[in-house]
Amino acid sequence: MKITAAVLRTGSGPFTIEKLELGSPGPREVLVRVVAAGMCHTDLLSRELPPEFFGGPQVYGHEGAGVVEAIGSEVESVKPGDNVVLSFNSCGSCKSCQRRRYPYCFNFSLHNMSGGRPDGTSAFTDEGGQRVGSHYFGQSSFATHTIAAETSVVKVNSSAPIRSMGPLGCGIQTGAGAILNTLAVEAGTSVVVSGAGALGLSAVMAAKVAGASTIIAVDRHQSRLDLAKKYGATHTVSGTPADITAAIQAATGGGADYAFDTTGNAAVVRASQAALNVIGTIALAGVGFGDLSVDFLSMISGRTITGVMEGDSVPNEFIPHLARLNADGKFPYHELITEFPLDQINEAEKASASGAVIKPVLVMPD
Ligand SMILES: NC(=O)c1ccc[n+]([C@@H]2O[C@H](COP(=O)([O-])OP(=O)(O)OC[C@H]3O[C@@H](n4cnc5c(N)ncnc54)[C@H](O)[C@@H]3O)[C@@H](O)[C@H]2O)c1
Ligand SMILES: [Zn+2]
Ligand SMILES: [Zn+2]
Repeated sequence: MKITAAVLRTGSGPFTIEKLELGSPGPREVLVRVVAAGMCHTDLLSRELPPEFFGGPQVYGHEGAGVVEAIGSEVESVKPGDNVVLSFNSCGSCKSCQRRRYPYCFNFSLHNMSGGRPDGTSAFTDEGGQRVGSHYFGQSSFATHTIAAETSVVKVNSSAPIRSMGPLGCGIQTGAGAILNTLAVEAGTSVVVSGAGALGLSAVMAAKVAGASTIIAVDRHQSRLDLAKKYGATHTVSGTPADITAAIQAATGGGADYAFDTTGNAAVVRASQAALNVIGTIALAGVGFGDLSVDFLSMISGRTITGVMEGDSVPNEFIPHLARLNADGKFPYHELITEFPLDQINEAEKASASGAVIKPVLVMPD
């Protein structure tokens, strides 16, 4: 079938809106009419990598939400007409997947970032007959229709506000899951969240849900710190790494129980790590490059540094859980969204990069 999609043809170039041919779903795949798809920083990662890492024309998008139109012969979890959120993909059989730690799938790159299906085929062909990469995070959802791996598809309530739910598939579940799953923050504890963007503000909301008594948000933009206050931060900090460490120590009276970094900035990570109490844990989700060095002795005394992918989520359970919290008014992540029509995807990227918009969501044309 003919569909419309945003295609990235060079790592540094703009997205172009194109007509593509979409193939048929395989036995364990689902054809989805995408209603809307969130834009996450990871969609733009190719901008930061050397040009030789760009894998060719590709449809990005990994926070899709929509309605199932058709299913492959072996699909059991959804049927046509179901509302679905599209999340990351995993192999289902490696050591991590056997333990239900799907974000840490040993074959994560192959199933999420290889530019097509794990067998090397793609679902999209352009008007010149050339291959265009598909199955980004198992879904490639910057498109009016796409073919997703069944393992990327999460069924949600038929009455759910599907148009705003795509971001639950990555950014929002990562921020909330870091707090509720990875760190398992308990009531009465102190939590530092560095970076008050989509991940960080979701984390602040989740820390409030968890009953944390001290929630310290760190950012360089006052407007974002104001939002953090609105969603539950008890303290906000901006300034040098030394200022951040001092402010956390002052707010917690001797060190934080938990910290979560979404900046990917080594100096900010070190500033939070230095302000943990001796059994404190810091979880890192913001993507950084190069070395991250911390004081050796500060670790021996009992502190923990852990990475976090996709909020340690089991998407089939955690996404419906977050949707219920949202429906109950306890997790208003939808307020972080600004909608753009698909053909304004380049404007959406600019608005996200400038900090004007927290979570762009691209709405597909009818
Ligand atoms: N690990 C995962 O599974 C996962 C999933 C999704 C996104 N990510 C990554 O998480 C990061 C955050 O994503 P996002 O969508 O929330 O981005 P965002 O741009 O909305 O938020 C980042 C925030 O950090 C702040 N910041 C950056 N550097 C800072 C500094 N030096 N000092 C103070 N504040 C600083 C920015 O002002 C911004 O508000 C990105 O690197 C993204 O690629 C990781
Ligand atoms: Zn796996
Ligand atoms: Zn993402």
